[in-house]
Amino acid sequence: MTSSLATVSYIGATILFILSLGGLSNPETARRGNFFGVIGMTLAVLATVFGPRVGVAGIPYIVGALIVGGAIGLYAAKTVQMTQMPELVALMHSLVGLAACLVGFASYIDTSTVFPTAAEKSIHEVEIYVGILIGAVTFSGSIIAFGKLSGKIGGKPLLLPGRHWLNLAGLLIVIWFGRVFLNAHDIQSGMLPLLVMTVIALHFGIHMVMAIGGADMPVVVSMLNSYSGWAAAATGFMLSNDLLIVVGALVGSSGAILSYIMCRAMNRNFLSVIAGGFGTGGGAPAAAGGAAQPAGEVSPILAAETAELLRESKNVIIVPGYGMAVAQAQHTVFEITKHLREKGVNVRFGIHPVAGRMPGHMNVLLAEAKVPYDIVLEMDEINADFPDTDVAMVIGANDIVNPAAQDDPTSPIAGMPVLEVWKAKTSIVMKRSMASGYAGVDNPLFYKDNNRMLFGDAKKMLDEVLAALRA
Ligand code: TAP
Repeated sequence: MTSSLATVSYIGATILFILSLGGLSNPETARRGNFFGVIGMTLAVLATVFGPRVGVAGIPYIVGALIVGGAIGLYAAKTVQMTQMPELVALMHSLVGLAACLVGFASYIDTSTVFPTAAEKSIHEVEIYVGILIGAVTFSGSIIAFGKLSGKIGGKPLLLPGRHWLNLAGLLIVIWFGRVFLNAHDIQSGMLPLLVMTVIALHFGIHMVMAIGGADMPVVVSMLNSYSGWAAAATGFMLSNDLLIVVGALVGSSGAILSYIMCRAMNRNFLSVIAGGFGTGGGAPAAAGGAAQPAGEVSPILAAETAELLRESKNVIIVPGYGMAVAQAQHTVFEITKHLREKGVNVRFGIHPVAGRMPGHMNVLLAEAKVPYDIVLEMDEINADFPDTDVAMVIGANDIVNPAAQDDPTSPIAGMPVLEVWKAKTSIVMKRSMASGYAGVDNPLFYKDNNRMLFGDAKKMLDEVLAALRA
């Protein structure tokens, strides 16, 4: 492939990636966005492999790596559960970081490139230093995020004494060794500062994510998504690959925007989340079995009674959460919705921005079950409607409907906007036990006079509700 054809292909791929991001911003166009992304990536890989910079001798290695990587990716995509997606994404971010580090070291020891001026050589070395720095932080931070999201590491923040000073000292050492690295006369003497910086960056990544509480993990995932983009862009600079720079910048900036949106959704200050220390209240992720002590009496309800309440309602709002995803109850939710709408009940869905375990988790599940988009509303669009609602049905959600976020300033989730289901005439919470949610805090909603608890697996209970509705 000639160099001009490769450039045209790169421009085509860039446009497709931008269209892809645009499409992914809305559930109705997400499928098309994904399709653009697949075509763009195929074009990018073909233009790179057959482009002017890869010799014929390199192709077998690339094909071999593609087969191995593709097989692992295919296996992971087929076996991973939807609820394990965030962990998988965190693991993938770590690979981007690792790749940036490896490319950085390889570029440094590669002597085949001759730089016409000393300034160009210095610029290349700055690219290597910064690329490895971002890559190492992304790599270790993502591994810790994977551990926290999968429940292998506790969600409680690790707050070392004087942690901000430790970070500052690390930063100063990195800057100092950067100067030593740039002044090194040969590869051997430049290797030590490079390695020292890498070790500090790895520790910084671990420290940064360990200091973040369980309830703030959504922000960390999107932040690491952004870092992985910048790591890819840095790799693009090291390899002088324009497409990688553009794509890295697209991922980096969209991840940063997503982090901002998540922070706003959780009423968190972005810098405070990064500084760590939120979510301190016993916050083990639900996966690790975190449970707070129940603090009152609850009123249970049966599936048949739930069906009766729904049948008599005019307005119903369904609030799905992580438990609906675990139980794979979305199809039954759709059947119930269809049945009630046919009977003239106004059924709508209230979606919290951090419901489930990844951005858009609930939207994806409801779209898969063919729930019409126009009755699926964002939290801000529906929160004011709860006082005029007969039944608010909470399906496997907990933290996102916790009134303590508004009433208890000492709660780890204090200040997080929540869906105000308790303002409905009756709220029904469907879950298996009194266990806490991801943030590991008790939920006063369960003990309110107008709240009923429908205990059991969400799929099983909803099947019973549907059967009772149809009876
Ligand atoms: P959670 O607060 O985690 O509550 C989910 C509830 O579902 C649990 O209390 C659990 O109670 C119940 N459950 C689990 N399996 C069930 C099943 N088979 N049937 C019925 N219920 C089941 O979830 P949420 O309300 O969706 O809130 C999301 C939380 O995750 C927030 O704290 C958020 O910060 C965090 N988070 C979100 C993201 C993103 S980006 N969305 C990423 C990471 C973390 P039982 O065990 O009693 O059944």
